[in-house]
Amino acid sequence: MQGLARDSRKCVCCEQAVVVNRVGDTSAMTYAEDQPVPLVGVHQVLVKNQFAGLNFIDTYHRSGLYKRDLPFILGGDGGGEIAAVGSGVTGWNVGDKVAYMADGSYAEYTAVSVGKLVKVPEQVDLKNAIAAMVQGLTAHYLVTSAHCGLIQEGEWCLIYSVGSGTGQWAAQMAKLRGYKVIGTCSAAKEEMGKTVGCDELILLDSPEGKSYADYASTDLAAKIMEITNNVGCKCVIDGIGKSTWEISLKVLARRGIWISFGNASGVVPDFSPLKLAVKSAFLTRPKLGDYVASREELDGRWSEVVDWITTGKLAMSIDRVFPLAEAAEGHKYIESGQTKGKTLFQL
Ligand SMILES: NC(=O)c1ccc[n+]([C@@H]2O[C@H](COP(=O)([O-])OP(=O)(O)OC[C@H]3O[C@@H](n4cnc5c(N)ncnc54)[C@H](OP(=O)(O)O)[C@@H]3O)[C@@H](O)[C@H]2O)c1
Repeated sequence: MQGLARDSRKCVCCEQAVVVNRVGDTSAMTYAEDQPVPLVGVHQVLVKNQFAGLNFIDTYHRSGLYKRDLPFILGGDGGGEIAAVGSGVTGWNVGDKVAYMADGSYAEYTAVSVGKLVKVPEQVDLKNAIAAMVQGLTAHYLVTSAHCGLIQEGEWCLIYSVGSGTGQWAAQMAKLRGYKVIGTCSAAKEEMGKTVGCDELILLDSPEGKSYADYASTDLAAKIMEITNNVGCKCVIDGIGKSTWEISLKVLARRGIWISFGNASGVVPDFSPLKLAVKSAFLTRPKLGDYVASREELDGRWSEVVDWITTGKLAMSIDRVFPLAEAAEGHKYIESGQTKGKTLFQL
């Protein structure tokens, strides 16, 4: 291994890490200063993190909605500098500025397989590069691949929460792909929602004391059918889940596709496939890992996203940066539905 010197007599520890020893609410997270620096395996590098991304999935891992073996270090994306290079690695060097998707990013050091790593070009700010990892690449596969070609240029695409992280990216990218976009967001995020270029933006009230949209506050399906002249949307990009799934089905065009990619409001309940027969509709429930599974696919998506950023076609927004020691505050912030862009932890 090249890089980080190790003294085999001493434990080399991360100065900071956020560990989950039991699943539950934000109190299940422990801020630790004694976690060992991970061992760097074959075809891996060790990244000294400057930032870790906060994603909704982190809350699912913490709460136990998505099962993990305990204990574990939280986090799914981050970035910084390569501190050490494992055996079998070529083309990556100590000191390279990188971003990645890998478990365990809420820590000073993370071991990352090179297949999950990208170089951050000089002209791209590291914070923006990390935003472009889970949220940016997710938006990219949603508008590019997950719809299986069932939407064409000039057809309607509905995207919820366009004032938030993934939704903002998806709306801008859907416009770059030539779709007509209906976006929704809570009225509290109006300013942000207006910047992403939707053809139609629908603002929704929030439930009492909450910051996210109340999908029961208006007949959203009727509004969308009116906008689309009763044709409906060829593609619905839905990361909200429990509060929106019935609306998503109602507003699909004939042979349209509902991409159910998240559970911000809770999990979609079981339902009969006969509900799809009404429109001969398609349903997919994708995840990012399956759309960046090969080096070529990751590089292809990354280079297009970087090109859009550097040519000014894609606007970035970093919402909040919390110190890692305030991981619980970050989780409360994202779960309260307040996020208006990427939220990061600084190390
Ligand atoms: N499958 C994948 O590959 C993949 C990858 C990344 C993310 N995701 C999913 O995408 C979704 C969004 O993630 P993100 O990182 O973009 O999060 P984010 O930036 O925090 O945005 C989440 C937005 O969802 C809305 N929301 C939050 N809580 C809600 C609730 N209880 N009821 C209704 N709406 C609520 C809010 O928007 P409004 O104010 O507009 O309501 C909030 O700003 C999550 O479900 C996440 O799991 C999936």
